[in-house]
Amino acid sequence: MGLLVFIDTIALCLVVSSALLQRFEEAPKPDGSLSFLVIGDWGRKGAYNQSQVAFQMGVIGKQLNIDFVISTGDNFYDNGLTGIDDPAFDDSFTKIYTSSSLHKQWYSVLGNHDYRGDVEAQLSPVLRNYDKRWLCLRSFIVNAEVAEFFFVDTTPFVDKYFTEPGDHVYDWRGIHPRKKYISNLLKDVDLALRESNAKWKIVVGHHTIRSAGQHGNTAELVNQLLPILQANNIDMFINGHDHCLQHISSIESGIQFFTSGGGSKAWRGVVNKWKEEEMKLYYDGQGFMSVQLTQTEIDIVFYDVFGHVLHKWNTSKQLHRPS
Ligand SMILES: *[C@@H]1O[C@H](CO)[C@@H](O)[C@H](O)[C@H]1NC(C)=O
Ligand SMILES: *[C@@H]1O[C@H](CO)[C@@H](O)[C@H](O)[C@H]1NC(C)=O
Repeated sequence: MGLLVFIDTIALCLVVSSALLQRFEEAPKPDGSLSFLVIGDWGRKGAYNQSQVAFQMGVIGKQLNIDFVISTGDNFYDNGLTGIDDPAFDDSFTKIYTSSSLHKQWYSVLGNHDYRGDVEAQLSPVLRNYDKRWLCLRSFIVNAEVAEFFFVDTTPFVDKYFTEPGDHVYDWRGIHPRKKYISNLLKDVDLALRESNAKWKIVVGHHTIRSAGQHGNTAELVNQLLPILQANNIDMFINGHDHCLQHISSIESGIQFFTSGGGSKAWRGVVNKWKEEEMKLYYDGQGFMSVQLTQTEIDIVFYDVFGHVLHKWNTSKQLHRPS
């Protein structure tokens, strides 16, 4: 009896220590497959082709019978939401992504522009209730059996928002002390990745790790997050921040880096040099990305504002990895 209680206590501790990031379960299709769209940097009340992109997402979403949508952040421009009653939530989200195929769960992270508003509003259950599709948290995990998704709050990593905020006021409630926030987050992500048995491990954040766009690589993430992603052999990192569509196939790490930040304002006209053998797509305009995956295969497609295919990529894994 005493031993049982002891074992129970250990088991409980193990569960608690790995349950720091909130988890959600997403049922795959009956055949075990999964499909979803990824959009980033979008909330501009329909302007800058946001509505056109939304329309095409609806078309492709229907074709692929998507299970959910991922938002890579910068959900509401220019300065996030002013509160839970900000009409921007309707004008940039509810009334824009109206196609029936997009009436699925949206899993959203926060971008730096979201941190310039009332962060708590975007995280609030009030908005989740108001539009049932909406789910935005700082960092969390979605387990979809065939794949596990690790959403990471990247804005607090970036030094310049703290040291040179300029005219911007950031809502750092819940982040201080910053060092501890970041170190705890890194620990939680590392642990969750290590414990994951999913066939595909996909990490999502707002900021870039590898990008030839205007913002380039985010040094803080390269230094602090990337080593953890590499050590845990993740399959792909998906971000926004640079307002483009991009696929970098890292030779050194084997990680695929996807930027889906073409949800509205784009055409920045800044593309930096990159190794040709790694750069699979750089598109400076608007659009979005689709992902279809099974136990053995993953298929990625990028689309422009007309729904035309810009780039396709796939890879496969054996059903049972040789040990
Ligand atoms: C909207 O998309 C079209 C087609 O890519 C492009 O020519 C146009 O400049 C875009 N408009 C804006 C405001 O970005
Ligand atoms: C995967 O991509 C290759 C080209 O890289 C293509 O030949 C093949 O048809 C693709 N497979 C599927 C299932 O789309």
